[in-house]
Amino acid sequence: MSTAEALKEQILPEVEAAADLTALEAVRVAALGKHGAVTGLLKTLGAMSPDERQVQGPRIHALREAVTAALAERKAALEAAELDARLARERIDVTLPVRPAPRGSVHPVSQVMDELAEIFADMGFTVSSGPEVETDWYNFTALNFADDHPARAMHDTFYLDETGPDGGKMVLRTHTSPVQIRVMTSQQPPIYSVMPGRVYRSDSDATHTPMFHQVEGLVIDKGITLAHLKWTLETFLKAFFERDDIVLRLRPSYFPFTEPSAEVDVGYTIQNGRRVLGGSDHWMELLGSGMVHPNVIRNCGLDPDEWQGFAFGCGIDRLAMLKYGMDDLRAFFDGDLRWLRHYGFASLDVPTLSGGLGA
Ligand code: DAH
Repeated sequence: MSTAEALKEQILPEVEAAADLTALEAVRVAALGKHGAVTGLLKTLGAMSPDERQVQGPRIHALREAVTAALAERKAALEAAELDARLARERIDVTLPVRPAPRGSVHPVSQVMDELAEIFADMGFTVSSGPEVETDWYNFTALNFADDHPARAMHDTFYLDETGPDGGKMVLRTHTSPVQIRVMTSQQPPIYSVMPGRVYRSDSDATHTPMFHQVEGLVIDKGITLAHLKWTLETFLKAFFERDDIVLRLRPSYFPFTEPSAEVDVGYTIQNGRRVLGGSDHWMELLGSGMVHPNVIRNCGLDPDEWQGFAFGCGIDRLAMLKYGMDDLRAFFDGDLRWLRHYGFASLDVPTLSGGLGA
């Protein structure tokens, strides 16, 4: 048997026996690599006599071809086996139950804030926000609360130990009205903006929680009157409650930052023992409002003879309770999943004027 045949009988079974691609590569290097056995044999051709080369040449080349072909075939077989193994390993058991759906949902307060923004955006209002930790100046002084004014005591304020950047006291904002000041001091009129957010007062019972939500509205422009305020509120409330028979009643009131000031009542009827908004059988107080006080406009660096406006402030939790029929404010902040599952909204229920607000 020639050396070539002997090598063939040795190498081909090795190729067949290679259990994986790494082992196969080792066999290939040992046969066809730079120092491989077949390569070594090919090199002997040069030193042979022409007659001998004529005999050995075809044998040795045939050996190389046979080894190359066997390696390719084995490689294809190993790769196919590896793919099969991977497919088996990564197979998906379609009979397994799917992952349970997430249990949380959109809180009614977030839903109402989105609805508010949607309605006011449609009327050309921007949405603004401000910090929850405020200076006394923004929360009170700039809003025309004199230092010794009893109105400061109307809000059960949480005071912080730290002093503010202006050397004054810091508070947890007691209303969203300071955002009016932030908007007026950072923007040029005309201003049409709503400002929803959290507010804080030291108060807690069935209708009060230490943290609650308000939305502030502010319009500063030329020639603005109480009629614009009433129209804006009526248009907003009709869209929000999705009823055309909403009736408002403005009652004279007092806030330091508005003059004149009005408390706004909304009419309702009693149907099957439940309050239903609309009509004017009964009235409930809904929000505070008024024409922005000239002192407030002046405190923001604007000329009250040139610019006038109206403002309003409304409890968002109250709006949510009225629209979605909830009766205890404290449940809003208990984090009880059962309550949320009952009153919450799916994350894809995005309110739109075309698709409905309470969708
Ligand atoms: N800030 C007032 C409060 O929390 C509500 C309010 C009343 C806001 C009248 C206003 C307004 O902008 O004009 O009780």
